[in-house]
Amino acid sequence: MSLSVTGLGKRYGSSPVFSNVTLSVAPGEFVAIVGESGVGKSTLLNCMAGLDDWDSGSVSVNGTDLATLTSDQRALLRRQQIGFVFQAFHVLPHLDVAQNVGLPLMLLNQRDDARVQDMLQAVGLNGLGGRLPQQLSGGQLQRVAIARALIHRPALLLADEPTGNLDPTTATRVMDALINQTRAQNASLVLVTHSHAAASRADRVLELHADGIHL
Ligand SMILES: Nc1ncnc2c1ncn2[C@@H]1O[C@H](COP(=O)(O)OP(=O)(O)O)[C@@H](O)[C@H]1O
Ligand SMILES: [Mg+2]
Repeated sequence: MSLSVTGLGKRYGSSPVFSNVTLSVAPGEFVAIVGESGVGKSTLLNCMAGLDDWDSGSVSVNGTDLATLTSDQRALLRRQQIGFVFQAFHVLPHLDVAQNVGLPLMLLNQRDDARVQDMLQAVGLNGLGGRLPQQLSGGQLQRVAIARALIHRPALLLADEPTGNLDPTTATRVMDALINQTRAQNASLVLVTHSHAAASRADRVLELHADGIHL
């Protein structure tokens, strides 16, 4: 999966968020994006996933310009090729851990309980598949979210401050799970983070500003 963002600009009404954002991510590459709060990191990540619209420039995934796709086609692309991890977990409270992790496979009609068990083991949640989210710690919940984002083996993983709500020790374990699994699948990873420790593990670190993105 290659991702390319060219001259991207976004505003809400008359207030610009960012302009002139250009970056590309190679297959298997891990890019960290840092920047001040409110500069538009989440907005940029949402644009990369085709979850948000932009006002100028383009976003291409594997050479396909997202602007040429209908919203149904974008949804299918996400379901098949993209994983997304949010800061606030977004785990479904009424499903147990294994059901949460297996959900993307269900949506693709590719249920695979063995793969779910393997993934739980890989992120250090072995034996917790039958628990409900309310019975887990924050670090465990975030690993559920990571397992769910990777279970369908997406070529591109987008993660928005996935360790923002975690203590440093737990954050390190969660980052280990995220990086190990992304590397194992040779997926590209775009990580938005405030954490210097997390950013230092990336192949490249980019800083987002209102007038562009640079090293
Ligand atoms: N739906 C929205 N309507 C209007 N302004 C928004 C909306 N979403 C985000 N913003 C604004 O856009 C800017 C960038 O937000 P965001 O992408 O969340 O920044 P970051 O993730 O870097 O903290 C902020 O100033 C925020 O207030
Ligand atoms: Mg944000």
